[in-house]
Amino acid sequence: MKIQYLKYFSIITLQEGIFTLTGLISKLNFKLKSIKYGTQLNIIGGVILDIYPESRVIIEDNVTIISNAKRCSASTLYSKTKIKTLSPSSAIVIGEGTGLNGTSITSRSKKIIIGKNCMIAPNTIITDSDFHIPWPPENRSVYPGCERDVDVIIGNNCWIGMNTIILKGVNIGENSVIGAGSIVNKDIPPNCLAAGNPAQIIKQYK
Ligand SMILES: CC(C)(COP(=O)(O)OP(=O)(O)OC[C@H]1O[C@@H](n2cnc3c(N)ncnc32)[C@H](O)[C@@H]1OP(=O)(O)O)[C@@H](O)C(=O)NCCC(=O)NCCS
Repeated sequence: MKIQYLKYFSIITLQEGIFTLTGLISKLNFKLKSIKYGTQLNIIGGVILDIYPESRVIIEDNVTIISNAKRCSASTLYSKTKIKTLSPSSAIVIGEGTGLNGTSITSRSKKIIIGKNCMIAPNTIITDSDFHIPWPPENRSVYPGCERDVDVIIGNNCWIGMNTIILKGVNIGENSVIGAGSIVNKDIPPNCLAAGNPAQIIKQYK
């Protein structure tokens, strides 16, 4: 019995060591990519960074980035957390105290701002762009349609449920909750629960 416990705790210790190491490598990568980050940045696992020169990525104090399914309580992670900017005008801000979990954030040409103390549950995708124009079909793969890109703003204290997709131009008001598996394509006011595809307001908390 004792040996079993010993084995269990050695594996846990080894895993913790690996998380710490990959977190440190990610931080080094943040520095190499000129990403500004505040104090107490806690990274568990490796983060995919693809940062266009002169774009801006700011990570405020006390942000946690989980990028390993083992550390993710509610779900598995489909991918590591990914932060990507695709042009000099792209900008991503992660507010103080916010937590990401295998989150994919891609700013093609506009701003994506996540407020303070937000909980972004596993596998959420946030983007400012459709990346293609819907019409005419022959132009979809050749014309980028950057003029259709729009800022995304998530207010302070929002809770975004797992497997949610937040599309271009969406503003989510502070304190709001987005139910798991939602697709948010329109603004959501503050202090409410919204869910579904497309996300609809279900309840106003106050
Ligand atoms: C958002 C959530 C917390 C709301 O829980 P709740 O306050 O108990 O809400 P209820 O279950 O009372 O649901 C209220 C209404 O919203 C609907 N609803 C709730 N979540 C929904 C969802 N994800 N998609 C669609 N509809 C949803 C319910 O069907 C219900 O509709 P009705 O009034 O017509 O019956 C919960 O539904 C949820 O999504 N949990 C997952 C959270 C998560 O991702 N956690 C990961 C760890 S951070």
